[in-house]
Amino acid sequence: MSVFNLTINGESKQVDVAPDTPMLWVLRDELDLVGTKYGCGVAMCGACTIHLDGNAVRSCQLPVSAVAGKPITTIEGLSENADHPVQKAWLEIDVPQCGYCQAGQIMNAVALLNENPNPSDEEIKNAMTGNICRCGTYIRIKQAIKKVAA
Ligand code: FES
Repeated sequence: MSVFNLTINGESKQVDVAPDTPMLWVLRDELDLVGTKYGCGVAMCGACTIHLDGNAVRSCQLPVSAVAGKPITTIEGLSENADHPVQKAWLEIDVPQCGYCQAGQIMNAVALLNENPNPSDEEIKNAMTGNICRCGTYIRIKQAIKKVAA
């Protein structure tokens, strides 16, 4: 076990875990930030997407030892009252079905829009293609992203 000082959603946190512990489990088990979901555990589905230094990353394959000193944002830290423009668009278009993958979808969409505020359909497809949704909400996800981009 080792002590790591982390910056999560603007707050300093300290955890005492094995250095290879994935951030997904640090967030969920150590810090009780359970909005970030476990889907596949092997960086293939996107359910566990968080922001590391503003970039979308898959927390299931991100060891805690690799993030010290870099700011992390989770779905809980995106806005005060779920009122980030992307979250509002998600609600207005009623994107989720079961909802399980949606935190990861939103975190990836926010990273895309931060980098490219007006993405084309092709750019949305390319950016979001690795975030899997078993309910097939892809059309509404694209609509919500375009609503924010418009
Ligand atoms: Fe991390 Fe699937 S749980 S990508």
